[in-house]
Amino acid sequence: MASLDISSVLQGGYQHPVSRSWQGRRQLTKSMFMYPLFITDDPDASVLIPSLPGQRRWGVNKLVAFLEPLVKKGLSSVILFGVPLSCTKVGINRISNNLLVSELGYNLQDGRGGPADDVDGPVIQAIKIIIARFPNLYIACDVCLCEYTDHGHCGILNQDGTINTEPSVERIAEVAVNYAKAGAHCIAPSDMMDGRIKAIKRGLIDAGYGNKVTLMSYSAKFASSLYGPFRDAAGSAPSFGDRKCYQLPPTAKGLARRAILRDVAEGADIIMVKPALPYLDIIADAAELASDHPLACYQVSGEFAMIHAGAAAGVYELRNMAFESVESMVRAGATLILTYFTPEFLDWLS
Ligand code: PBG
Ligand code: ZN
Repeated sequence: MASLDISSVLQGGYQHPVSRSWQGRRQLTKSMFMYPLFITDDPDASVLIPSLPGQRRWGVNKLVAFLEPLVKKGLSSVILFGVPLSCTKVGINRISNNLLVSELGYNLQDGRGGPADDVDGPVIQAIKIIIARFPNLYIACDVCLCEYTDHGHCGILNQDGTINTEPSVERIAEVAVNYAKAGAHCIAPSDMMDGRIKAIKRGLIDAGYGNKVTLMSYSAKFASSLYGPFRDAAGSAPSFGDRKCYQLPPTAKGLARRAILRDVAEGADIIMVKPALPYLDIIADAAELASDHPLACYQVSGEFAMIHAGAAAGVYELRNMAFESVESMVRAGATLILTYFTPEFLDWLS
């Protein structure tokens, strides 16, 4: 091979596991992983979610025992999703073991998502329990209305079923401030209403939380087919229509870029892209457009289920594919990954 040009020979640079590990701009670390948790209002629940392998809906009484070993392994952040024991859309038998709606004493779902910030509701209770037992664990709260509205849409609706933006944004900001008051370290609005970042940031500042709470915007959130298992888990599927008038069309690179720039201008502290793997180009765009911000991506429920299904079908090893998926996200520019694989990565990175 005397004719081989010097510039043709690359393999000498990645011939060893150690030299391969230097090829990434950044290494995976445990603190890059944020674990999504579903908290229901049956306090003793520990219910497997069939479409989301290994994941459960947790009651507040079960949280400490579940989190303890994860925190020991290096879990540094969680994101909480409230799952009211809704009967209308999910069916009480699927969501709860033994608690009846009538025993709860409040209206579970209404047009404006009333229970989202109930002080006795699962999210605020969970925040308090986690802070008391794991003072160093960073707690983000997803803020949206779809888990709490009777129609299952992410905002408040007009008579004709379209989004009524102003009261939606007002209500979402109110819930956000109440999560901050309960002690959340981070507010993560996933509703995709126009103007909610500005309203939440203003609300946080006016309530005295401007310097105490991070605002992580689901900025480029696409109307994806990959949210199905989550909607099973949270009982948040819309009762009519779809979310295409507020979540972005999968083709919409330009809109995604505008949404990222808008949310930066409105005061977001962290930008998120969601889903992750099919939208790596958007993650790369966000890394360039919001280059001074941390950049999150959400490996959503359907991506997680897909990786499990492929492994079960013998297409690849689960662990190898899980690594490849998150390494791709980091390569594209993500600095924080929300994923149901977090407990596994705490083991795999040990
Ligand atoms: C609620 C919300 C959804 C997800 C996060 N927050 C579902 C949706 O918008 O329908 C999806 C997360 C996942 O699929 O893992 N607005
Ligand atoms: Zn929603």
